[in-house]
Amino acid sequence: MCGIVGYIGTRPASNILLEGLQKLEYRGYDSAGVATISEGELQCVRAKGKLQNLQDKLAGYENLARVGIGHTRWATHGKPEEYNAHPHTDTARRLAVVQNGIIENYRELREDLKAKGHKFLSDTDTEVVPHLIAEFMKNPPHHLSPLSLQSLFLEAVRLAANCLQGAFALAIICVDFSDELIVVRQQAPLVIGFGQGEFFCASDTPAIVPHTRAVLPLENGELARLTPMGVEVYTFAGDRLKKFPRTLNWNPIMVEKQGFKHFMLKEIYEQPGVVRTGIETYIDAAWSLENNGTSPIRLGLAPDLLQGLEHIQIVACGTSWHASLVGKHLLEQLANIPTMVQYASEFRYSPSPLMPNTLTIGVTQSGETADTLAALEMEQSRRSQQPDPQFQARMLGITNRAESSLARMVPHIIDTHAGIEIGVAATKTFTAQVMAFYFLALELAYIRKTLSSERIHAIVEEMRQLPAQIELVLESQERYIEELAHDFAETQDFIFLGRGINFPIALEGALKLKEISYIHAEGYPAGEMKHGPIALLDAKVPVVAIAMPGSVYEKVLSNAQEAKARDAQLIGVVPLNDAEAEDTFDSLLPVPKVDELLSPILTVIPLQLLAYHIAARRGLDVDQPRNLAKSVTVE
Ligand code: F6R
Repeated sequence: MCGIVGYIGTRPASNILLEGLQKLEYRGYDSAGVATISEGELQCVRAKGKLQNLQDKLAGYENLARVGIGHTRWATHGKPEEYNAHPHTDTARRLAVVQNGIIENYRELREDLKAKGHKFLSDTDTEVVPHLIAEFMKNPPHHLSPLSLQSLFLEAVRLAANCLQGAFALAIICVDFSDELIVVRQQAPLVIGFGQGEFFCASDTPAIVPHTRAVLPLENGELARLTPMGVEVYTFAGDRLKKFPRTLNWNPIMVEKQGFKHFMLKEIYEQPGVVRTGIETYIDAAWSLENNGTSPIRLGLAPDLLQGLEHIQIVACGTSWHASLVGKHLLEQLANIPTMVQYASEFRYSPSPLMPNTLTIGVTQSGETADTLAALEMEQSRRSQQPDPQFQARMLGITNRAESSLARMVPHIIDTHAGIEIGVAATKTFTAQVMAFYFLALELAYIRKTLSSERIHAIVEEMRQLPAQIELVLESQERYIEELAHDFAETQDFIFLGRGINFPIALEGALKLKEISYIHAEGYPAGEMKHGPIALLDAKVPVVAIAMPGSVYEKVLSNAQEAKARDAQLIGVVPLNDAEAEDTFDSLLPVPKVDELLSPILTVIPLQLLAYHIAARRGLDVDQPRNLAKSVTVE
């Protein structure tokens, strides 16, 4: 949701900013812009549309500026036009600002600033920020903090930050303080990178890792002054904080396509490795039926987090919400704990009544989703007001971003080890989240003695087969799915059906398809179809049904027959070599036969490939679908 970058140091800033923006383009691609300062002048260049348009505009110009900021936009306030693109400047064009987030009180601020003579040129909320800082620099209030002795620019930014309401991350440069870059964080991610005599800032680490792995994530209510000499961090109250960078343990190669046409396809192919890593990390290799005195699962969570639980509530959005629905099924069926899954955006404003002895889990691949973070914060805060210890907050995060805001907010996380995901449509992070729920459910089943050792052993043994089975699906299916995708290049509606643990996979298959191919798609529990959605069916609406052996296999096949009777073209995600399935479906997407509980990890793979190939066939931008962003840091 908008990407911001900044650089100050000894090298020309312009290319570093453009390269950084390229790494952040997954956050938004409605427009892009950079501002730099050299020889006492502010240069600000912006372009509508993808970053390439900005690169074309800048090509051939030599820019030796050593300080600058850049932005790639996901439009919130104001259309995606050049005049709304960041950076925004003040009336005298001495200051430039990039922002990620939303300034909620921008209307009042703008009216006030207009009355003071400031001229506004855009429809954005962000534009108030440079004007406000300029106003504080021109007419400083009487009571300035000691920061003003260091830099009036820094003090003016601090004063401005205290006037802003909402969630925002800012990077700001000023012609009159050209050896300073100031950054601010309030509920939107902002990371500082420490190089040798050069410093970086960005909304996310991929923009920084090509230069340094020493990073410092700012916390809410903090601002920092970056100069070629170092970094100083302050609170919004003006108090200096002692902070040290940490070293990231991943490298720039992780954010390259490595020969794949799209990041999404590369990430689909990374899934066997991700599942394997999860198993190696969290399952005790020495555990066996004979040696079962301790849990087979090694999550490293504090024991009192999971002891005596009566309820679990999970908050998440989008694909992470679908993974959480699979999680609910596992936690209820394996560990016998009543579990609720809530949309974070709903829960934060209408939470369910407080229940005692409850584990709250936030699930997010980016670790930065504003609604999920706010829902967790709200839950933590309402529970902290409860005197009864039964109601105290027990919070757990599930994410692949161990350095994210989520990981810093909650005391415990399960790192899914999926690594960073660049394709906007989540794939490997989904399977990794589902794996995390297997580990958690098995751990709880062991603690609560809801499963026999034999059953746990059988599940663990089958789980170890999953990486090879995903590989098999990828190898045997991709070519066929690519061909099948030709049939659907003109299709306008799709229905996905699943039941039980595969109902969330039907939802996920539909979401994948709609978000990257722009084809309308709906996921339903197969048994619900006859209660309404069946009216949609005719020969033009293909139906994808997930029918895996287990408690609802025959039922799903019957539901598929009902669709067939309405002329729908039937595609089945079915077990390999299954005669009944072969008779029922027009097209088969077979996966190895596994325990029903483990099947979602396999059934989702052909659906990801189907969505990918339909979108690619339609010539769409698979990695950067319209209107979407990878990290949704606004409400
Ligand atoms: C879909 C997708 C989104 C995200 C949602 C939550 O492919 O990626 O639906 O799942 O925006 O994002 P995270 O997991 O970062 O909280």
